[in-house]
Amino acid sequence: MTGVLVTGADGYIGRAVAARLTARLQAGEIDSLTLLDQRFGIQNDAFADGRVRCISGDLGDPCVLAQATEPAPEVVFHLAGITSRQAEEDFALGLRVNVVGTIGLFERLRVLGRRPIVVCASSIGVYGTPLPEVIDDLTPVNPTLSYGAEKRMIEILLADYSRRGWIDGRAPRLPSVVARPAAADGALSAFASDLIREPAQGRRYACPIGPEGSLWLLSLPACVHNLLHAADVAADRLPAGRAWNLPALRATARQIVQSLCKRFGPSLADRVEYRPVPSLQAQFASWPALSTGLADSLGFRHDGDLATLIAQALRH
Ligand SMILES: NC(=O)c1ccc[n+]([C@@H]2O[C@H](COP(=O)([O-])OP(=O)(O)OC[C@H]3O[C@@H](n4cnc5c(N)ncnc54)[C@H](O)[C@@H]3O)[C@@H](O)[C@H]2O)c1
Repeated sequence: MTGVLVTGADGYIGRAVAARLTARLQAGEIDSLTLLDQRFGIQNDAFADGRVRCISGDLGDPCVLAQATEPAPEVVFHLAGITSRQAEEDFALGLRVNVVGTIGLFERLRVLGRRPIVVCASSIGVYGTPLPEVIDDLTPVNPTLSYGAEKRMIEILLADYSRRGWIDGRAPRLPSVVARPAAADGALSAFASDLIREPAQGRRYACPIGPEGSLWLLSLPACVHNLLHAADVAADRLPAGRAWNLPALRATARQIVQSLCKRFGPSLADRVEYRPVPSLQAQFASWPALSTGLADSLGFRHDGDLATLIAQALRH
């Protein structure tokens, strides 16, 4: 039985992971659940359960970190982070949270000596432009964003801490997880969510990529399933580098709109106007064919088809 810590537990993905883990706590499948975030805002079912410990504070504050890791967790879902937009706009902030904060967490776990399973949310942002014609498990990474560089640094450290036996790290690379609520400081790839949510909710949407712009997508429930599964996979089945691409559905903006039209009627297409921004197109909307043999063999899954993904994305 296990004590579980979730960092970034009040974020978009963190809230959903926390809700699922609270259900596991209530079912007696885990012993304790600690949620850490800078602040807790929106009401979450997880907070209603008195057995869930919520800690508000900066992961980079040693006192907060000590509190969150006492008693020492056996499983950590590390989801706290700064988005790609924030990391590009404020280099020092991205470095402090995405790199220094994560190293602080790893160091704390090393000193505690319990060798916990640590699932870190990495990102397909580790791939840089120009993106190759196909990406598979052996494609070299070459980040061209500070965010991607920060994620890659953590992947490397996570593998080294794992090699030394200090943590049992796992770094699945998440594609765009949809459909997150609109946010001014959201990820640079947040248009993937906007393109689904805005026309579906009857609003006009100026899409910053062209109709042939291609995305890799995962719904929030599929993402949560994969993150929890990442903690369960036997360590000896993981790649030596401890980082891998998750399966994702590849779809163009046009295919997404067509799928939305099947559900909401053909007039939905009239609400979408394409106004491509070249810099976004190159990094965030040129995702090539994806081959995820390793993740497939380990039991990771995407949503299956676009209609299911959209249904899931709009439900959560
Ligand atoms: N959403 C996606 O499409 C996507 C894709 C790839 C990778 N990821 C990664 O998954 C993780 C979760 O993403 P998300 O979409 O839920 O992001 P989010 O911005 O919604 O949530 C991140 C949370 O981290 C918290 N946080 C930030 N700095 C902190 C600090 N110093 N101390 C404590 N808490 C802090 C924030 O308050 C926020 O609640 C991130 O690491 C992100 O890089 C997300």
